[in-house]
Amino acid sequence: MKVLLTGGAGYIGSFVVQELAARGHTMLVVDDLSTGHREAIPDTPLDVVDIRDEPALMTSFERFRPECVIHLAALKSPEESTQNPAHYFDVNVSGTVNLLKAASRYGVVRFVFSSSAAVYGTPQMCPVDETAPTAPQSPYGESKYIGERLVTTQAATTGMRHACLRYFNVAGAAPDASLGEYASGEARQLVPRAVAVARGLAPTLKIFGTDYPTEDGTALRDYIHVVDLARAHVLVAEGLDDAGRCGTYNLGRGEGTSVLALVDGLRRISGAEVPVEPCSRRPGDMPASWADAGLVFRTFGWRAECDLHDILSSAWAWHNGAPRTG
Ligand SMILES: NC(=O)c1ccc[n+]([C@@H]2O[C@H](COP(=O)([O-])OP(=O)(O)OC[C@H]3O[C@@H](n4cnc5c(N)ncnc54)[C@H](O)[C@@H]3O)[C@@H](O)[C@H]2O)c1
Repeated sequence: MKVLLTGGAGYIGSFVVQELAARGHTMLVVDDLSTGHREAIPDTPLDVVDIRDEPALMTSFERFRPECVIHLAALKSPEESTQNPAHYFDVNVSGTVNLLKAASRYGVVRFVFSSSAAVYGTPQMCPVDETAPTAPQSPYGESKYIGERLVTTQAATTGMRHACLRYFNVAGAAPDASLGEYASGEARQLVPRAVAVARGLAPTLKIFGTDYPTEDGTALRDYIHVVDLARAHVLVAEGLDDAGRCGTYNLGRGEGTSVLALVDGLRRISGAEVPVEPCSRRPGDMPASWADAGLVFRTFGWRAECDLHDILSSAWAWHNGAPRTG
């Protein structure tokens, strides 16, 4: 299959590229390298294009003529999005509109969209399945929800096969530490922040909220290994030969892990102390969010194979290797 991946030089995208290559697919990555890295995908054809640049995007489609688009390019920080919502809508929504225009003009038959558990906001109950109400709590979450609607609406009118994948908390690195998440400024996600403390690069790990109604008072999240996530993209893209499989799917492990449980796991793996600093809750944070990932298993046969230990040990090995910065 000829697959055009936007955001393929990013953290998740670079793993999807590896998985697609292993399955023998032909690829073109479209990425403006704003947070992505050429060295993460050294052998993959790359057009350095901003998805907001419609003519440049059309040129990539004209030249490559993809059968399938996997659209990962986006800005991804809920906190940052509250400071600059228009910028988030510009990249995440206008960029998606441009891609859909190109997909329509060049007859793309399969479209896989990177969405997020952020579309649920605070779930009324966990595990959360795909029928749960959507109530995004940040412009980022809104932009992902709008993206889903744009993709689904276009697919309904053109017959394009589509899947919107709602990722939960993605973490981890390649088991051989050859690929992982590049550090760029101060990490926002828990796993890289915790690893930085374990490596002695920060004095304490701030824990935002220790009075949630959970067993140890800290928030529960569903951590999914990036390798499992990448495998899901390829299974879904390939499986869309059956139109009956179009839809929206959660991608998670189906298990809530508390912040303190994650820190304990990292202490055991690293042998480091990882001092923690209790802090007040952050606005918009929720006590618990974990997935019911049954639908994607029933439809595509995908389920997560890696556990929390695999996630933490691979993240530790990657970040503890040669320092990589962006
Ligand atoms: N990391 C997570 O936990 C998580 C969770 C849910 C959803 N997601 C979604 O997964 C996708 C990939 O996230 P990631 O963690 O790999 O982030 P990332 O920042 O590592 O990757 C994003 C990629 O998109 C590229 N990009 C950004 N703006 C662009 C533009 N205007 N034009 C072209 N390329 C552009 C970047 O250069 C980068 O390579 C995003 O859509 C994100 O919203 C991520």
